[in-house]
Amino acid sequence: MSNYHIKSLEEYFTIYRKSVRYPETFWDEIAEEHFMWRKKWDEVLSWDFSKPEVTWFKGAKLNITENCIDRHLRIRGDKTAILFEPNDPSEKAEHITYQQLHDRVCQFANVLKDKGVKKGDRVCIYVPMIPELAISVLACARIGAIHSVVFAGFSSNALATRINDCDCKLVITADGSFRGKKTIDLKGIVDKALESCEGVETVLVAKRIESDITMKEGRDEWLQPLLSKAKNTCEPEVMDAEDPLFILYTSGSTGKPKGMVHTTAGYMVNTAYTFKNVFQYREDDVYWCTADIGWITGHSYIVYGPLANGATSIMYEGVPHYPDWGRFWEIVEKHKVNQFYTAPTAIRALAKQNLEFVEKYDLSSLKVLGTVGEPINEEAWHWYNENVGHQKSPITDTWWQTENGAIMIAAIPYVTPTIPTFASLPLPGVQPALMDENGDELKGNQVDGRLCIKFPWPSMARTIWGNHQRYKDTYFSSFENMYFTGDGALRDSVGYYRITGRVDDVVIVSGHNLGTAPIEDAINEHPAVAESAIVGFPHDVKGNALYGYVTLKEAGETRDQDNLRKEINQLITDRIGPIAKLDKIQFTDALPKTRSGKIMRRILRKIASNETDSLGDTSTLLNPEVVEDIINNAL
Ligand code: WTA
Repeated sequence: MSNYHIKSLEEYFTIYRKSVRYPETFWDEIAEEHFMWRKKWDEVLSWDFSKPEVTWFKGAKLNITENCIDRHLRIRGDKTAILFEPNDPSEKAEHITYQQLHDRVCQFANVLKDKGVKKGDRVCIYVPMIPELAISVLACARIGAIHSVVFAGFSSNALATRINDCDCKLVITADGSFRGKKTIDLKGIVDKALESCEGVETVLVAKRIESDITMKEGRDEWLQPLLSKAKNTCEPEVMDAEDPLFILYTSGSTGKPKGMVHTTAGYMVNTAYTFKNVFQYREDDVYWCTADIGWITGHSYIVYGPLANGATSIMYEGVPHYPDWGRFWEIVEKHKVNQFYTAPTAIRALAKQNLEFVEKYDLSSLKVLGTVGEPINEEAWHWYNENVGHQKSPITDTWWQTENGAIMIAAIPYVTPTIPTFASLPLPGVQPALMDENGDELKGNQVDGRLCIKFPWPSMARTIWGNHQRYKDTYFSSFENMYFTGDGALRDSVGYYRITGRVDDVVIVSGHNLGTAPIEDAINEHPAVAESAIVGFPHDVKGNALYGYVTLKEAGETRDQDNLRKEINQLITDRIGPIAKLDKIQFTDALPKTRSGKIMRRILRKIASNETDSLGDTSTLLNPEVVEDIINNAL
């Protein structure tokens, strides 16, 4: 029996047990059989969560692009690696074969080298969902540069913070991007960001929307002419197993975004293994993940996982509703998609539309449906199952995090029986634990607690860029010898996990993690604002939306409140991006506080969710009278 591909529930249990009892043998065999190494490892794993320090495949040498590209050339050179579907359906899709991908990645790698980029240098990639995005990611990996992709929907401010945090000297971007009917001036955003990024020496600009942009002499260069002159071979840099592959920022509940550092070998092995099993991928399947490569889902399951398996991975540039709400299904029909992986927020938005949009298309190619990013509610699950999967394609609800690198808890389609709203069972190699508030592990089933992982897995982030202490404090200090996820979960009577949501001040809005503190910081910059508190509340499409309670410096401020609301949302858009805008803003004279001066968010959360009859004890508040006032004026 191969560990690599699980084909029955019995096999799953056997393999899972092995992965817990003999984790090193388990991962050793997978790594040995399915990847290309320049040198094998001396030791599979060493770890110490108290430091925390984790190394996988110590001493091994490899290049991940050899695994994702070169080794496929002999047998799959003419097979499509990346299938690019443009925003505008009248523009032709582009099939990039493995051979072409090889050539383009090498050309790009040579351009980067020419610009002085070396192993270990950080390169910021702020590119929309066009082939250059995937190619630039792989080009960095080819030469051992650490890529830091910033989602091309972030504001100039957010971009600048990320560029400066890891000292990028080179930025890759595009003139602009298409989003449905709109175009976005990406280069303008980059120019503004770079006003506060002194370290950036070079900006490479891909041409996509043919807009009129300014190019700064000596700093900015068009990419395509450089690529066409570059050689299409480039010897891969030989990397250590634990050399950083990339940095990807994620929001914390406080402070600036955390640059999660992922390393090479473990990440590769874990993403490839989970891709194969969670999507039950078979040669010649066409696989589509609708995420953006700017998020971890795109890194692991558009680029690295699929390509390491020699798959065809679709990259879609546009949005679900352009030219109409049938666009996703049109793409499924057109490219005969076999695996479709999306977010619950997209499903809820699609489910609100007329059924004709989905019924019009032939979806019979679909074999596996996936979801990721937030809990999927029962209604959305059934809509997906009935109207997209026609009750024959299993839905795998995949739970994992940027910090995890790869899927952790998910049903294996055709193997694990699914129950709506349950992510189900841990994948082999993943050892979850539920903890109570006293730090004790809740054993057995039918328990509910804080979700931790008690044993290392190969693709876990190793640190936060430039701040190992914060890594330790955030993930390894709440529970001894455990990685704490920040999520709550329950384990039912048969051992299935259901994720119940964040237990910290992170709110997941449309599948995006948003820390409330950075949003409050942005609002507090407004000259009229004294103080603010942000909480999440349930929203039928976004999952959660944001509710802001704002106190003004001058009580009874006479300014037009609607105008103030607009200004506050504009500030948030500038500082973070439009995804962090507030749905509701309530002005209030005071915020409920504890005697030590902490804002009682628990109460504000209840009010925002309209659960005012279960507020709990408010008598310990410093100012209990404000609660009534806030309830009376709630939006
Ligand atoms: C949430 C995305 C319930 C969770 C890959 C986690 C989920 C956070 C699920 C990580 C799911 C992700 N069910 N909740 N299937 N998947 N989450 O870093 O709260 O963008 O901690 O990684 O999303 O979000 P991130």
